[in-house]
Amino acid sequence: MVYNNIFTQENNGITTITINRPKKLNALNKETISELHDAFKSADQDKTTKVIVVTGSGEKAFIAGADISEFAHFNVDEGTELAAKGQELLFDFVQNLSTPVIAAVNGFALGGGLELAMACHFRVASDNAKMGLPEVSLGVIPGYGGTQRLPQLVGKGRAMEMIMTAGMIDANQALSFGLVNHVTSQEDLLDLCYKIAAKISRNSSVAIRSAIQAVNANYMSHVNGFNVEIQEFGNCFGTDDFAEGTTAFLEKRKAEFPGE
Ligand code: COA
Repeated sequence: MVYNNIFTQENNGITTITINRPKKLNALNKETISELHDAFKSADQDKTTKVIVVTGSGEKAFIAGADISEFAHFNVDEGTELAAKGQELLFDFVQNLSTPVIAAVNGFALGGGLELAMACHFRVASDNAKMGLPEVSLGVIPGYGGTQRLPQLVGKGRAMEMIMTAGMIDANQALSFGLVNHVTSQEDLLDLCYKIAAKISRNSSVAIRSAIQAVNANYMSHVNGFNVEIQEFGNCFGTDDFAEGTTAFLEKRKAEFPGE
């Protein structure tokens, strides 16, 4: 598939999705969001893809936010629609994907950029990365899930301060907040993500899908996560991966998961 604003590459079961608008610091315009939706969807449906890594092109930015030039003239209805559509097409979509998604935060991750990183299952940053939700400096609030996911990841007080000050934190502060899991040099960023992805790929993709659903259930107010866990745990017993994983353990050999 040829895209205008992103490119994708599959290697060793890992699909890398790169946002490619470096001159605009990879800002998310409508077309980019739609292309990202398609790319995440097709990687998720692709049986060979075990892990997705999302990053930004160039050395400066992961994503510097939603494209401000596109919404500067919007009214109330258009603003509401922008947030609702974006959450549905990209941010909630990524959070609920069956395939693990790692954000490789290679520079500025601001506004919608940090929101996309936070919708991913976890984050790894390069040491030049800067993260923040600067929306209130524009007279608006985060609209792609930032007011919900940032407190979940860093706690309410830190999230409130980051949102109210519209300030940026650096990679090491993000690490100490638990916003990112690892910090490395920009040069080593993708390699570190691929190493983690390779470890994930060795495990049962079916069990990982269940684990994503069970963990995500913890953050849904209308759902009892413990019940989801019981259900998903039970479902695993009906899978070929479970039969292979337990048999391989008992036979003292490495499991070869069929992914079913
Ligand atoms: N939307 C649209 N365009 C953006 C953008 C965004 N969120 N972020 C950066 N750009 C564009 C700039 O307008 C500029 O385009 P131009 O060269 O055509 O003028 C280009 O990207 C480079 O950005 P620039 O501001 O010149 O780089 P910088 O190194 O001086 O500053 C930032 C980097 C990230 C601090 C600055 O670009 C910025 O504050 N961006 C907006 C961040 C933001 O508020 N995001 C939340 C949006 S809700």
